[in-house]
Amino acid sequence: MTTLVHVVGARPNFMKVAPVLRAARAHPGVRQYLVHTGQHYDEAMSDRFFSDLGLPAPDVNLGVGSGTHAVQTARVMMEFEPVLDRLQPDWVVVYGDVNSTVAAALVASKKGIRVAHVEAGLRSRDRTMPEEINRLLTDQLADLLLTPSRDADVNLRAEGIPEERITFVGNVMVDTLLRLREQARALATPQARGVAGRPYAFCTFHRPSNVDRAEPLAEILGSLDDLAARMPVLFAIHPRTRARIAEFGLGRLAERVTLLEPLSYLETISLLEQATLVLTDSGGLQEETTVLGVPCLTARRNTERPVTITEGTNRLIPSERAGINAAVEAVLRQRGNGGFSPSRPEGWDGRAGERIARRLAES
Ligand code: UD1
Repeated sequence: MTTLVHVVGARPNFMKVAPVLRAARAHPGVRQYLVHTGQHYDEAMSDRFFSDLGLPAPDVNLGVGSGTHAVQTARVMMEFEPVLDRLQPDWVVVYGDVNSTVAAALVASKKGIRVAHVEAGLRSRDRTMPEEINRLLTDQLADLLLTPSRDADVNLRAEGIPEERITFVGNVMVDTLLRLREQARALATPQARGVAGRPYAFCTFHRPSNVDRAEPLAEILGSLDDLAARMPVLFAIHPRTRARIAEFGLGRLAERVTLLEPLSYLETISLLEQATLVLTDSGGLQEETTVLGVPCLTARRNTERPVTITEGTNRLIPSERAGINAAVEAVLRQRGNGGFSPSRPEGWDGRAGERIARRLAES
């Protein structure tokens, strides 16, 4: 018997664990447990994702909630340790780059329990991003580094990670996207939101670098408002962004923009697929738009997902009104001239979960 403990905590983890859990079920020699740290806890940020993705209820919820990075990371560590003592798994499987990822990896590795990192090797080379710190440390701790793209293999080798720890498996989030795409389409969210058959923009912003200071947030909201004069702009707003807009008194800047509560996974994909363009600072949306062939403008100075630029539809833009407006113009022009086509980088084929489950089951 191989026992796996999967640890997830925040919204972007949920679509990554789903295909691995499903694929591992097909291996009779695997027993698995799902641990939710509780980093995200709102119905809209967590429970709705579990139901959309067909995830089982977690076996354990650590209930850590929000806090500073230190507090949140420490709480996950303290609550996770006794769970590990009880379950005694062969592998702890961690996902992505959130605080729960690095916290769980650190606890497991100090107990001599092997750690597998799904989505290993991505690097923005920007240490002001908390996720970059989480990625670097998790990859140092992990015994098995499961990479989503070939650039990740190169990054890990350059950091001196032994070759035998690195396994290229492809992008597991794309498994979920391809599996649920039809279901998302059937939901017809553009119709429900009154934008079906019309050009519209879809956007999300929640990175601390964009929303925790008034200046970049005001610039972004200003440009969204400019765009809203031409087409509906649907902004699915993260709770932290909503709180900052109120705190900085910026609500009036974006009066023409339609603010939506955080959307479910299926609603998001349904809106993404028909969007004229996407403006974001999310990691996941950069990948999903590449597969769907929807142009994506990412308000960041760097990306840990470079294939979305070299092979996909993504482009980095400044967090500054005139720069965003110019990039929007360029996208609309290009769309008029024939547009963007979907792309599937190597291993973004819907089978990454199977490759991960096989690798874990055989070790
Ligand atoms: C986290 C991840 C980020 C990921 C994002 C996706 C880290 C360091 N960051 O950022 O990589 O892109 O999730 O959403 O792990 N809040 C709620 N309800 C919730 C969860 C959070 O209201 O269910 C609010 C709280 O005010 C909280 C704030 O959002 O303090 C930030 O939450 P947190 O989990 O610390 O980070 P995210 O910004 O969500």
